[in-house]
Amino acid sequence: MTIRPILIHPDPRLKKVCDPITGVPVEIGKLAEDMLETMYDAPGIGLAAPQIGVTQRLLVMDCVKDPELAQRPMALINPVITWSSEDRSTYEEGCLSIPEQYAEVERPAVVRVQWTALDGTRQEEEFSGLWATCVQHEIDHLDGKLFIDYLKPLKRQMITRKMEKLKRERARA
Ligand code: NI
Repeated sequence: MTIRPILIHPDPRLKKVCDPITGVPVEIGKLAEDMLETMYDAPGIGLAAPQIGVTQRLLVMDCVKDPELAQRPMALINPVITWSSEDRSTYEEGCLSIPEQYAEVERPAVVRVQWTALDGTRQEEEFSGLWATCVQHEIDHLDGKLFIDYLKPLKRQMITRKMEKLKRERARA
């Protein structure tokens, strides 16, 4: 497994609508392993393929934050939201592509998601709580959408400028 570099916003690859994955090629299993490794290392609770520069519809997540509990690594190929609750919930979201910036985002509190697992089987599950927020945030990535796109333009621009500055500093280092 390899820890991959995570792209930092702004980057055109983070704005792309990602391509569906056909079947479950061996490379996808390998890519999912690398993404989980990269996510745990960051550390984060979710990572979408475009965040490591692969514009395909794959995301990984594990919202078990309590170190006492067993990890629950998940890899979702071509995930689709098939139902969203009218109930909404607000979480302070962050993103590994937008380091150290957090903002409240309101989303449906419960969602039902269908996807293909790494063993090729079709899966469907209802997510609530942090899992619901996370899976929606990551599916947004597959459509070129970031959590800051839900914020007011001024706040979004402020964060984008900070990220541009961070990238200049990192390029110089
Ligand atoms: Ni993100």
